[in-house]
Amino acid sequence: MNNFQFHNPTRIVFGEGSADRIGELASSYGKTVLLVYGGGSIKSTGLYERTIKQLKESGITFYELPGIEPNPRLSTVNKGIDICREHGVDFILAVGGGSVIDASKAIAAGALYDGDVWDFFVGKASIQQALPIGTVLTLAATGSEMNGSTVISHWEEKLKRGAGSAHLYPRFSILDPSLTYSVPRNHTVYGSVDIMSHVFEQYFSLTTNTPLQERFCESILQTVIENVEPALANPNDAAARANLMWCGTMALNGGQISLGMQNDWASHGIEHEVSAIYDIPHGAGLAIIFPNWMRYVYKQRPDRFAQYATRVWGIDPAGKSEDELALAGIQATRDFFTRIGAESKLADFGIGDDQLDRMAEEAVRYGAIGSFKRLEKDDVREILRMSL
Ligand code: NZQ
Ligand code: ZN
Repeated sequence: MNNFQFHNPTRIVFGEGSADRIGELASSYGKTVLLVYGGGSIKSTGLYERTIKQLKESGITFYELPGIEPNPRLSTVNKGIDICREHGVDFILAVGGGSVIDASKAIAAGALYDGDVWDFFVGKASIQQALPIGTVLTLAATGSEMNGSTVISHWEEKLKRGAGSAHLYPRFSILDPSLTYSVPRNHTVYGSVDIMSHVFEQYFSLTTNTPLQERFCESILQTVIENVEPALANPNDAAARANLMWCGTMALNGGQISLGMQNDWASHGIEHEVSAIYDIPHGAGLAIIFPNWMRYVYKQRPDRFAQYATRVWGIDPAGKSEDELALAGIQATRDFFTRIGAESKLADFGIGDDQLDRMAEEAVRYGAIGSFKRLEKDDVREILRMSL
């Protein structure tokens, strides 16, 4: 186990009915609020009316930025920055999934920065300050509700990049599982794959002597596996939705489950290059790429993959070599993703091999990626080729 520090300042308000505390919480942080939301789901579920009623009752002046895209775009972030500057916004309220929260974080940082907010995403500047934000989460997936990361697409340049800062942690996040009952089937699947992928990025590590961290990881994986199908069978399954929501938050909240461990994040880097060009849902891309990454790298540490197979999937180790167990665990992952309805090939989204070179090149633009196995351009290209 490596040395570590941990500080996560986000206040979590969890549970059914917690969405009735939006006004109370927002008013303790700001008087002039930018309300950020997506393409309309919060209007059809009634959450929009519920939110603005509370903001009005709390005496908050608010402006709105609707229309945050899944894979949120820089151009929309810039619209939000303009509104903040024009109206002296002092707090941002994100109501939606990871895309809405990520856009809100970028707006929060950009509003207090003299240059182009994209500078933060291409390493030209680091975030020194940001407006405070709060979130009302409507989709279990990214963990953005309790971390300091944001991922934004520069659509015109076909780039998707992340930025992070301690200044971007939400001041509070309202996690009301009943808000996720309306999440459609495909996004329930993609969100669950994303949660599992966040755990994989931390669990498949070369760091040794981390038994507690490994078990944190395995417990989240098992809990997601147990709860996805009940949530798909009955979207209003309160227990399943609550468990998925809490798994999503715990899987990526500043690395709490993997403190002292080296993380990988190569598969995320590769997926971001795919969604930068083809605009596919993040979790869908991960469901395709991750099992292929696993096949490509498992020999770095077959013992960890064998442990994954036995502990997470309950595969009987009797009579199997470590490699056989590792491969059985990887196949179980692929089979599970397929069973719940995730795509297995880039071709399922009509993606061919014409941009493989560009995606591989962009993935390693700042150097080799990953730590479990360092991946150069040719390695990334091969994983993408396996994913066709
Ligand atoms: O836009 P609306 O109308 O709200 O619809 C959304 C969207 O179409 C819909 N949705 C959300 N909540 C709903 C709902 N529909 C019905 N009922 C609800 N309660 O779901 C669709 C997808 O939403 P989105 O926010 O895009 O999904 P997700 O939460 O998976 O976020 C994906 C984005 O987060 C980034 C991804 O790259 C991607 O851009 N990530 C952010 C991370 C972070 N900040 O830490 C880490 C992740 O690894 C990831 O990269
Ligand atoms: Zn992710």
